[in-house]
Amino acid sequence: MVVLNFQFSIPNSQLFNWYQQGKQDTINHHIPLFELEYLVTELTELTSLDLRFNNHKNKGKISSKISLEELQKLWNLRVEKRCPIQYLIGECHWRNFTLKVTPDVLIPRPETELIIDLALELTQEYSSLQLGKWLDLGTGSGAIAIALADIFPQATIYAVDKSEKALKIAQENALNLGLRSKIKFYHGSWFNPINDLRNNFSGIISNPPYIPSKMVLELQPEVVNHEPKIALDGGEDGLNDIRYLIGNAPNFLINKGFLLLEIMAGQGDMVKELLTKNGNYTNINIYQDLANLDRFAMAQLS
Ligand SMILES: C[S@@+](CC[C@H](N)C(=O)[O-])C[C@H]1O[C@@H](n2cnc3c(N)ncnc32)[C@H](O)[C@@H]1O
Repeated sequence: MVVLNFQFSIPNSQLFNWYQQGKQDTINHHIPLFELEYLVTELTELTSLDLRFNNHKNKGKISSKISLEELQKLWNLRVEKRCPIQYLIGECHWRNFTLKVTPDVLIPRPETELIIDLALELTQEYSSLQLGKWLDLGTGSGAIAIALADIFPQATIYAVDKSEKALKIAQENALNLGLRSKIKFYHGSWFNPINDLRNNFSGIISNPPYIPSKMVLELQPEVVNHEPKIALDGGEDGLNDIRYLIGNAPNFLINKGFLLLEIMAGQGDMVKELLTKNGNYTNINIYQDLANLDRFAMAQLS
């Protein structure tokens, strides 16, 4: 959604009544209250403190970017269609960035923020790797590529996605954040569009689709009904793309270059085995997220 200014003014009493009903909806439909607050505070002049302490009660009108009817329509989509709040607002906060998101891209998850910290931490010992080329495979909204451009200001970042629509959003995000000139975007499947860049990358990062096909259907409606299937489905055991990336990354990494993958909890042992059996990797490690679940695999080209 592109909404730029506060062009509407909603009578306070109407907004207040609507908000009370919304609060009831959050209870009835098990939606966290902060999502309703997020919608209201992003689209009207009200802050969460105003909402919590009813600070606005003496105001006659509330400035808003959309009409009360439109606000109601958006909220209905959240409650009835289980549309993720980030798609309704059109953006999400991830690391220190505000990224545009549409149903063409996966909403970047908080745990994926950790893969960037890992990249930073792991390259401390190999600081020359921070200067080279880094590759984000399956860039989606561009989150990882953008964060890499931010933490490795001297590196050149390459970003690939099979979805042309996702790539457009990623490019827009990079432009909005002033990082467009640092990231080269490619459309195509995994390594295909950068096939001439063999033995070139200091690091390859990917958060590929890794959910087993059957499990995709059981995901919460916000995910299965709204987020792109191409971002989720990793085939029968969830490891189709991970297998392919582990098999091909050695052709594209420089000596001691890093492969960093986000994986699903429960895949740690299998991914470690795939990396070990491949025979081209050293320093193979599985890392946990803040909930102590195996969520990242790392290996270096030996
Ligand atoms: C789990 S999402 C990750 C998106 C983003 N990197 C993030 O972390 O939020 C996986 C991404 O891989 C892309 N993808 C799936 N299959 C692909 C393929 N064969 N080649 C390139 N990209 C692919 C999807 O379009 C999607 O954007």
